[in-house]
Amino acid sequence: MTDQPDLFTTAGKIADLRARYQEAVLDAEATAKEKQHAKGKGTARERIDMLVDPGSFVELDEYVRHRTAAFGMDRSRPYGDSVVTGVGTIHGRTVAVYAQDFSTFGGSLGEVAGDKIIKVMEFALRSGIPIVGMLDSGGARIQEGVVALGKYGEIFRLNTQASGVIPQISIIMGPAAGGAVYSPALTDFVVMVDKSSQMFVTGPDVIKTVTGEDVGMEELGGAHTHNTRSGVAHYLAEDEDDAIDYVRTMLGFLPDNNMAELPAYEPVFEFETTDADRFLNGVIPDSPNQPYDIHEVIRHIVDPAPGSGESASGVGEFLEVQPLFAPNIVIGFGRIEGRSVGIIANQPSQMAGTLNIEAGEKASRFVRFCDAFSIPIVTLVDVPGYLPGTDQEWTGVIRRGAKLLYAYAEATVPLVTVILRKAYGGAYIVMGSKQLGADINLAWPTAEIAVMGGQGAVNILYRGEIKKAEEAGEDVAAVRTRLANEYTYNVASPFLAAERGELDGIIEPAQTRVSIAKALRALRGKRASLPAKKHGNIPL
Ligand code: HXC
Repeated sequence: MTDQPDLFTTAGKIADLRARYQEAVLDAEATAKEKQHAKGKGTARERIDMLVDPGSFVELDEYVRHRTAAFGMDRSRPYGDSVVTGVGTIHGRTVAVYAQDFSTFGGSLGEVAGDKIIKVMEFALRSGIPIVGMLDSGGARIQEGVVALGKYGEIFRLNTQASGVIPQISIIMGPAAGGAVYSPALTDFVVMVDKSSQMFVTGPDVIKTVTGEDVGMEELGGAHTHNTRSGVAHYLAEDEDDAIDYVRTMLGFLPDNNMAELPAYEPVFEFETTDADRFLNGVIPDSPNQPYDIHEVIRHIVDPAPGSGESASGVGEFLEVQPLFAPNIVIGFGRIEGRSVGIIANQPSQMAGTLNIEAGEKASRFVRFCDAFSIPIVTLVDVPGYLPGTDQEWTGVIRRGAKLLYAYAEATVPLVTVILRKAYGGAYIVMGSKQLGADINLAWPTAEIAVMGGQGAVNILYRGEIKKAEEAGEDVAAVRTRLANEYTYNVASPFLAAERGELDGIIEPAQTRVSIAKALRALRGKRASLPAKKHGNIPL
């Protein structure tokens, strides 16, 4: 007697299904746990369960099996192959998910694993829902050769087609090696888990052979490297829980797709000026060279987290993106009156808030993301100019710096800009100026708007006076400061810009939160379009 169910009966067929499910999901999960937990990592299904709302996950394709016979592969044909795919909800909204299963063939991608990912991506695209990929893989399945490579090609093409249509987020939770890194690179946001994730096109061994360089896996492509040096990653997660928490929070700011409404939360919004607003009146130091932390300003402008119980006069929730890369510019999501906004702000406490290549590229990609998904952009300006130097010029500050101009100039979402302090030269124009298409431009009375800062201008305009002062034995530093102050007062005053209509208003810092909210309200119905074209040619 065997326990084989009688497949000619309904009860037998159901028993057969249960047995197969046991093997495909439950037994596979037990093995996966053993292997992954030993490395301090979660399994694909555990990770998905953490990401989506409890009980909401519906798995797809758990009975898929590979068809490869090469290298004895036909002796092992596990159900589901090396990736778990499906749909679930996050805060009640549907998302598509895939998680590579390193415990099966090292999470490597062959024909059927590729097809599973392609199927769930196509589903996401068709349904207009975000997709989250969790990567943990040895890359293209070596035994499957060109077929595996081809699947990557299809995935890259789909990533590109989905770009700007549905939000795509990648969480790197193990290795992502070789050309496989280009799928996350094509998505909107990449989160890396500290110490357990690596991304590189060529690994340490190949590098050693070809260039002679000695570099470890972590230094080459670990989470720190990609968050601080390369800018490939947008968040350095302490662990898997932190990574997943960040993505859940981020999705709360994003619409489902480029045609969908932004998520709107019950606004906790106070239209009266609060004590927290008045804090902003004391933010700008009297000395123009003294830094302050722009995060303080941002947190006093955005809403508290929905459901946090915080009052509108408390400090708001700001989800920063790429905080460790080019910290001289700060980008991220917040809410104003319950609706998402993208915030872009110079950071005077890092490199005096100057713009360099990295800051320009970081901000441009964010402007384009917000524009693609109709997330209004609030720009906070305190920028003394572009960072000077041969390094910047020779590494393409002209070409790469032009991206931010391009991104703002093509954006059709509501654009609200507030100049807090310095707005000099080309940097004034690039940071969401009226001339690039911003809708409402405001300034604090502390704003300084001019071709260049006082000290620089004095060197050019008052060369003669300074020379005379030197010859007369006067205190040259004091003369310079006096002339620079006069210049700032007479030429850089925001009232001159307001007089010419370059600014729509000058506000007390304490009025910023409410002024931005009113501007965004007025712009809710904004309609703008670009001339018909196949696509533009952003300087890359
Ligand atoms: C098939 C693979 C595999 C792969 C790992 N495995 N990578 N099987 N194809 N690409 C299998 C291993 O044979 C092993 O099987 C199991 O997964 C676990 O791997 P280990 O090496 O034991 O794990 P670990 O020591 O943690 O090392 C992980 C690793 C290493 C660093 C990822 O496996 C590795 O270097 N793999 C190859 C990486 C690579 O070069 N891939 C190709 C990249 S090129 P058993 O049966 O022993 O458990 C690429 C091109 C994409 O992806 C092209 C796009 C255009």
